[in-house]
Amino acid sequence: MLSQKKAYKTLADGRQVDKYIIKNKNNMQIEILTLGATVEKLFVNDKYGNKRDITLGFDDIDSYLSSDYQGAAVGPYANRIAGGAFSVGENIYTLERNDNGKNSLHSNRLFTNAIWEAETIENDSVKLTLFTPDGSEGFPGDISAEVIYSLSDDDSLKIEYRAKTTKPTFYNPTNHMYFNLSGYDSTSILDTVLQINAEFFTPVDENLIPTGEIRSVKDTPFTFLTPIPIGERIDFDDEQLLLANGYDHNYCFMNTASGSPGSANAYDKKSGIFMTVETDMPGIQLYTGNFLKGDIGKNGKAMPFRSAFCLETQFYPDTPNQKDFPSCLLEVGEEFYSRTTYSFSTR
Ligand code: GAL
Repeated sequence: MLSQKKAYKTLADGRQVDKYIIKNKNNMQIEILTLGATVEKLFVNDKYGNKRDITLGFDDIDSYLSSDYQGAAVGPYANRIAGGAFSVGENIYTLERNDNGKNSLHSNRLFTNAIWEAETIENDSVKLTLFTPDGSEGFPGDISAEVIYSLSDDDSLKIEYRAKTTKPTFYNPTNHMYFNLSGYDSTSILDTVLQINAEFFTPVDENLIPTGEIRSVKDTPFTFLTPIPIGERIDFDDEQLLLANGYDHNYCFMNTASGSPGSANAYDKKSGIFMTVETDMPGIQLYTGNFLKGDIGKNGKAMPFRSAFCLETQFYPDTPNQKDFPSCLLEVGEEFYSRTTYSFSTR
């Protein structure tokens, strides 16, 4: 295991961004930026033994500040909060409605656009920490957040999240890597074969806010209980697919309460790369890059519509306003802890 830190680039606003690199014995390599605790590059071996960077991102550092959250840590509340408002007890909190002027999305980049403190731990991990004062982007409490990325010699990337707060708040962090298992410069993910071990999902309204229903995937284009290419049904005349212009939905891992992790996997035939996701979070957002519109990313390559997919582990969207969804209320004196691993092999 090899780790390295370097001063990387300076943002137009003068902030310095550092980069941390970890490489394992198989040459799998992760490159992390202190801006947004971002996974900037993720090199994985393909079936021919060649390394491919399978995540979208940018060479131009300032592009990260207005990105589609490529690779970033998102929080304190990932995904949408309806009306940009929620209450805890008697207190009502209002957030920026940065999504169509209607809803809060990804906490208006509070975690994503911050420079995190970082340190290497034991050559295989990078620990990033961020302090956000009470009221930042409307969220209650001084929040001390931590994200740890660890690479193992069996080719898995573990992401651990911890947090404490000085006022009760809803805490729901995620990582927003955009994967293309053929490589960041491939233009489609429609042939990627996906499996999500979840029997239910949360349907949305026209603003992508959950309606509150927890619907069975059975007999719908949303079932990925057996592996099936992402593109096979994505353009079906289905109300939910039309509302989101593809998949942009939360799947429910009902089995997490029993202790077995929620899981999903994806396979790309061309590269032979097989990725497994395991999480203790109760949900996962399948997002098929429906808002990507060809912006220039790494190496001058465009990132077209549906050129990547995300599997964002999370509590369900709009949980603070949905009393029947599993709660992510973090109380004073508690420590939030969650873990997700992305593991890689070839076949
Ligand atoms: C996803 C979300 C999408 C879109 C994207 C960022 O997490 O599900 O609807 O907002 O982030 O472009």
